[in-house]
Amino acid sequence: MTTLIIGGAGYIGSHVAREFLDQGHRVTVYDNLSSGLRENLFPEETFIHGDIQDYPRLVRAAKEGFDALIHLAAYKAAGESMVQPEKYSLNNINGTIHILNAAVEAQIPCIIFSSSAAVYGEPVYLPVDEQHPTNPENYYGFTKLEIERFLGWYEQLKGIRFAILRYFNAAGYDAQGRITGLEQNPANLIPVIMEAACGIREEVQVFGNDYDTPDGTGVRDYIHVSDLAKGHVAALDYIHRYQRSLTVNLGSETGFSVLEILEAARRISGKPIPARITQRRQGDPGKLTASAGYARETLGWTARFSDLDTLVRTSWNVYRKQYYQG
Ligand code: WQD
Repeated sequence: MTTLIIGGAGYIGSHVAREFLDQGHRVTVYDNLSSGLRENLFPEETFIHGDIQDYPRLVRAAKEGFDALIHLAAYKAAGESMVQPEKYSLNNINGTIHILNAAVEAQIPCIIFSSSAAVYGEPVYLPVDEQHPTNPENYYGFTKLEIERFLGWYEQLKGIRFAILRYFNAAGYDAQGRITGLEQNPANLIPVIMEAACGIREEVQVFGNDYDTPDGTGVRDYIHVSDLAKGHVAALDYIHRYQRSLTVNLGSETGFSVLEILEAARRISGKPIPARITQRRQGDPGKLTASAGYARETLGWTARFSDLDTLVRTSWNVYRKQYYQG
């Protein structure tokens, strides 16, 4: 099997590429390295340095006889998307249209798309399953939902099968330490905590401790990137076996609070990690957890690396090596 991974040098993309290589796939990564990193590329894969806005280049790259295409080339900062929607329209929406059209031209029969729990918006009930209403609260989530709709149309009109994977909070690093690229200027909780542990950030701001949760801080469903990566392989197998598309949550079904993660990080790193309670961040729900029952039923997939210690320890190992030379 030969797979084209667009955005395969990024944080999630490199873990997905690693898993496909481990499963014996041939992999080509197409990435503009805007947030992806050369150090996230593997010697066994073919790399094409290209932008999804460069349609001729994308089509040339796509016409190498791929069995599947995985699309992970999107901007993902929800806060930024509310200030610079233009950037998200251009990259996430126009860029995806290029990818879909390139897949049609190159006759790639299936696409796996990285969607997000952000398509649901403020939860109406918990845990959130795939039937939960979609009502994104930020422009980023809107772009993901629009792309989901495009995929439905391209299946109907052009016969392209798809898997829409709605990720919850991706976290952690490859347990074998094969992926070492650190995200620049992260806004997500675990990398922020790691930066504070390494002293490159003064403190962690805890966005509110007055939520209706056991310790008052926000609770999220953290899903290890290696679990996510395995979900992609399982989704592709499903499409091949049943010739059917699917939309599915990938989450751990477990919620951890900000303080629980902070405590685990202090224990595992042995660093004090200063933290301060601040105002709630706009648009943050108190609690968001997934139902992953559908992924279990259809894909036989379940999270295996998403316990608190593995999430934090695999992250800390990468940060520690980079900032404390082991
Ligand atoms: C987690 C918890 C914060 C930073 C985002 C996107 C979402 C999806 C996943 C991709 C919350 C708290 C955070 C900090 C804090 N992305 N926090 N201090 O917002 O749940 O989801 O990533 O699809 O679309 O919005 O993730 O890691 O930012 O926050 O207290 O410095 O940590 O309030 O409770 P979020 P996060």
